Amino acid sequence: MPEPAATISTIAPGHPELIQGGMGVAVSDWRLARAVAVAGRNLGVRALGVVSGTGLPVMLVDRLQAGDCDAVRALNAFDPGIAREIMDEYFVEGPPAKRRGKLPPKPEVLITGNEATKARMLKLAVAAAYVEVWLAKEGHSGPIGINLLEKVQLMHLPVLLGAMMAGVDYVLVGAGIPYQVPAVLASYVRSEPASYRLDVSGAEDKHVLTLDPRDFLPEGESLRRPQFVLIASHHALAMRLAATVEVDGFVIEGPSAGGHNAPARGKLTGEDGQPIYGDRDRPDLGKIAELGKPFWLAGSYATAARLDEARALGAAGVQVGSAFALCNESGLRQDIKREIWKRIAAEALEVKTSATASPSGFPFQVVQLEGSLSEQRVYEARNRLCNMGHLVEAYQKDEGAGGGIGFRCPSEPVDAFVREGGTEASTVGKLCLCNGLGAAAGVQVPLRPR
Ligand SMILES: Cc1cc2nc3c(=O)[nH]c(=O)nc-3n(C[C@H](O)[C@H](O)[C@H](O)COP(=O)(O)O)c2cc1C
Repeated sequence: MPEPAATISTIAPGHPELIQGGMGVAVSDWRLARAVAVAGRNLGVRALGVVSGTGLPVMLVDRLQAGDCDAVRALNAFDPGIAREIMDEYFVEGPPAKRRGKLPPKPEVLITGNEATKARMLKLAVAAAYVEVWLAKEGHSGPIGINLLEKVQLMHLPVLLGAMMAGVDYVLVGAGIPYQVPAVLASYVRSEPASYRLDVSGAEDKHVLTLDPRDFLPEGESLRRPQFVLIASHHALAMRLAATVEVDGFVIEGPSAGGHNAPARGKLTGEDGQPIYGDRDRPDLGKIAELGKPFWLAGSYATAARLDEARALGAAGVQVGSAFALCNESGLRQDIKREIWKRIAAEALEVKTSATASPSGFPFQVVQLEGSLSEQRVYEARNRLCNMGHLVEAYQKDEGAGGGIGFRCPSEPVDAFVREGGTEASTVGKLCLCNGLGAAAGVQVPLRPR
């Protein structure tokens, strides 16, 4: 997208008509979100740029190890003292060859780590979210949102705080039932401690994470509440959430949307392993409109004609992902984009919905490219590991294993997953999306076990 010379256009106030969907991890980084917001301002379109809120500590650490000056500038704007601590640990000045290849701690240390490790991880996560949103908002007045996956619960408290400290305008959450998010936003606005109940498989007790914003907020500073938008595939979830908590709008995503999709409600998969969606999966947009909040349609809505169609159905606009993932400013590696562009031009691009690939359990759209994990040969040669740990499942450990909470991922080594109480069957076909999407976004952290 060219950044037009500064022009001032009048934009009627109101919700965005175009949302650039959040795309993890770092496919929609601050550069893309900023470019969308700036282009919207300049072209007179109400456009919302959205950064991905997934894996942000990994991204920040990777950038610092590449001597990224933008990240350093934003870190210093956050808190010079915390910036110094983080820089001492990760910053590498000079050519990328000098990278230390160091990973940040896994999010699970917020439960399993000692107090010092927990504090270090919290600082890194709050700072990483601040950096991403601050850079996306720098130098223009267009709106910026952050996208979270409900399933990645460990990071919600610090990421929401960092994003709000940087003035995020919208928080968009999908991949689960994010009923706890509005209370977190409200607590932060009141400068009070926020809590988040963690889903722990097999646990009877409640496990609650807490974070006090006053540990990070400068004296006398208060936070503004961003709009909270639920991303759902069906009216049932939208209605359920709207009946219980404060939701400001809905993105209704169909099964052709890039990234994760909702599981099919009827027959789960066809002979080629792809989910089969039917009438029961179709949302009733009338019921959504009755909720009286703005909504946006997503999944193959990247044309003017489809925007008109969405509006005719009562939507405020559309959310678009894949087209933005392929534009110059996205975090996707240029060589991958070039290959995909070539295939689109030749009408030879193949995208399959895999019912098994994602550790999250949701169907996931995989572009079929030679040399990538979409090829069985490459998949089988892969070294299974879990070194980033953002899509893990929390589980209750047996007393025999010492009790407490453990974390497992079905794409880690099979024997480790089974030892942790997982089933071998659920490891079949699983990809490590932390590394897979990270590598597709050019992250250089090492692909080796800790
Ligand atoms: C590479 C990629 C990654 C995505 N990651 C996320 C994500 O992390 N969270 C999310 O809510 N949606 C994610 N999406 C979905 C988009 O935000 C958007 O809703 C979807 O792509 C819209 O459909 P379209 O691709 O047909 O335009 C992703 C999409 C793509 C293409």
